[in-house]
This record gives sequence, structure tokens and C-alpha cells, in this order.
Amino acid sequence: MSHDIADAGLAELGQKRIAWADTHMPVLASIRERFAKERPLEGVTVAACLHITTETANLLKTLVAGGASVAACASNPLSTQDDVAAALALEEGIEIYAIKGEDTETYYRHMDAVLDRHPQLTMDDGCDLVSRLHQSRAAQVPEVLAGTEETTTGVIRLRAMQADGALRFPIVAVNDANTKHMFDNRYGTGQSTLDGIVRATNVLLAGKVIVVAGYGYCGKGVSSRAKGMGAQVVVTEVDPLRALEAVMDGFRVEPMIDAAREGDIFITVTGDRDVLRAEHFQVMKDGAILANSGHFDIEIDLPALAALAEGRRREVRPFVEEFVVGEGRRVLVVAEGRLVNLGAAEGHPAAVMDMSFANQALCAEWVLAQRGSLEPRVYDVPADIDTEIARVKLETLGIQIDVLTPEQAEYLSSWTVGT
Ligand code: ADE
Repeated sequence: MSHDIADAGLAELGQKRIAWADTHMPVLASIRERFAKERPLEGVTVAACLHITTETANLLKTLVAGGASVAACASNPLSTQDDVAAALALEEGIEIYAIKGEDTETYYRHMDAVLDRHPQLTMDDGCDLVSRLHQSRAAQVPEVLAGTEETTTGVIRLRAMQADGALRFPIVAVNDANTKHMFDNRYGTGQSTLDGIVRATNVLLAGKVIVVAGYGYCGKGVSSRAKGMGAQVVVTEVDPLRALEAVMDGFRVEPMIDAAREGDIFITVTGDRDVLRAEHFQVMKDGAILANSGHFDIEIDLPALAALAEGRRREVRPFVEEFVVGEGRRVLVVAEGRLVNLGAAEGHPAAVMDMSFANQALCAEWVLAQRGSLEPRVYDVPADIDTEIARVKLETLGIQIDVLTPEQAEYLSSWTVGT
């Protein structure tokens, strides 16, 4: 079995941490148990391009339990947990190609190694795998039955492919399930982003001005958690509705050029490029900390920052690089402007990835069961899968809810009764 990992000696530690995460992923565990009996993925080769974390390890084990043969690579050069990669390769016998800090050439070599397995199912986080398949390995595309996509950025890229008529197999937008984005994007990103910044810098959040760029589910989560830690939160937006929502949630909303002058910590979660750029770096306070929690490392214009620094840059702590701008102001970039929660911390906690990856496992099963009957386009997660995940998650939390009385159910489906 082939693999490319950083250090085989980390396998035992990885195995322990995977087991720990599993204790917080009861929904996924129940799916794994059923998959082991029913083997719905028997004979299917899955190419997974995901963040290689303890939570992902439990998802991959679930796919294997379901009968799949799995090859996996990282969906970000900095997000791999090397102990987990070692455990997957050596203890679980999963073909894995992922090394934390790999360069771009290695990142794509690893992706190609996974695609060399000629998968029938793709499981992507950010759409790099599907994009590579369509652009560089088009002859292989007809072998693929279907795919799933984990994240907002990936779904946006897939919809662009669909609009261009480029998408050649059906893909389920796992991100868009309620049990994914309402929890993972909000509470997961909210907590893990601050976790990454704190682990890397050890700064006190209380009393700081934290500027959050973007008020989608991720931005909402980051803003509310930052407020909870005692920060003054300023939100920047380009969308009037989201800006209004931020205002009514109690946050100050400003253009970035104004926020840039007062922020102590800047967090980008927009999904777009150059959110922080030269005009902003030029007015920032000495010691400003910049972090990105969007999928790609394009939200902070690092080439522009490097140009302003004119060579005055150095690593001041692991995952923290200092750039000196103008007459001597320091601007600190965390985790190379890559996903700070996975680059400098462990990503979202397992309890929230439980629902995201339950969606992945059930959508893999669903999309394969539909083989031959779906068009090459982006599909929503079926509503019954979404509801069932919420139901089981509540059950595992020991929380009960009310049920409609027959009269209530009838009332909701009637239109004749009014004032
Ligand atoms: N995305 C965000 N957090 C993650 C995690 N812990 N594992 C996999 N993907 C993630």
C-alpha cells in the first residue's frame, strides 16, 4: 500500500487522537456501525481530498467500513495533522498522501497519486480535486459516478462549473445542508478560528478591536465568539442584507479602510481575494495581527504586504510572520494567511464535524444509490438526510423535543381557519 507521510513514528499518537475524536462523533459512529453490516459502498474507490485531521480519519474509516477502498490527500498544504496521516497509513491501511507544510508541487503530486487510483466517487473540500480532474485528467472523468463537496468555496466553484457547462458528473453540495453550515460554519469556524489565533499568538482577546471581514455563517460565528471573549467587534461587508444583519446583531459595520486604522486583530472569512490589501496595510496600527479563515490564502494580499515590507520579514513564533511596513510598523500574519483554524490549531471540534461528516457518509451512500439517474449538476443534500442527522444528534445529546398533536398537524395543513 503506498503513502507519502511526514513521520511513521507518529502513528501511535495519531491513533489515540483519532479514538478521542471518535468519542465525540456519535452520529458518524452509528453510521459506521450500519455501514459495516450493509456495505453500501462495496467495490467503490473513493478519492478524498479533505483536511487530514482526526475527524476526517473517522470519516474515512466509516467509508472503509461501508466497503469502499479509499485514497486520500490534503485539501490544504497546511492543514494536515501528521500523526493522523501516519495512523491512517500504518494502522488503518488507508492510502494517504499528505504532509503538513507541503509545497504546491507536492500538494498536486499528492492529488495526482490519489487520482491515479481511478476513483468512482470524489469527496472534495474546496473543489481542487474536481477541478484538477476536469482540467488535467479529462479522459478519466467518465469513470467517475458522482462526488460530494464539503465547503462553501467548493460549492461556489462547482456552481460556476455548472454555469459554464463544464461539470461532467453529479456532485452533492454537503455544505448547503442545514446540519452542516448552520453548525460547522458558525460554531465550528467561530471557535476554531479564535483557537488558531490564540494558540499561535497567545494574545488576550478581551478588550481588543477585532475586525471580521464577511458576515456569512462563518463570519457570524467568529463575530459572536469574539464578542463573547470580550472583544469589540467591527464587521465589514459588501452585501447590504448581511451588513444590516450584523448591525442588528449589535456589531459596528464599517468599510475596511476605516476599520483598518483601529483593528488589533483582523479575520477574513469572505471567500474572496484581496480583502486586506496595500491601502489597508499602510494605515494599520503597529502590532496588528492578520488571520484568514476562508478556504484559500487569497483573502490577505500577501505579495502586496511583502512588497511593502521590502525584505523586512521574519518568523517571530511558529506560525507567526512579522512584516515591517513603512517607518517601522509591525504587521503580523498568522499561518501564512492560510486557514488559521487548521494551520495553527486542530480545525473544528469533533462534535461539530460529527454532523458534517455524517452528511458526507450518507450523501456518498445516497449518490451512489442513484447512479445512472442523476444529471451532471450540483445537488442539494436530500431533506430527509438533513433532518435525520439533526434527530440523531439530538438523541445522542440526550435532548427530547415535542411532537405535534393531531390537531396541531391538521391546523398547519389547513387554510380555512383564520381570525
Ligand atoms: N474543516 C474544519 N475543521 C475540520 C476538521 N476538524 N476536520 C476536517 N475538516 C475540517
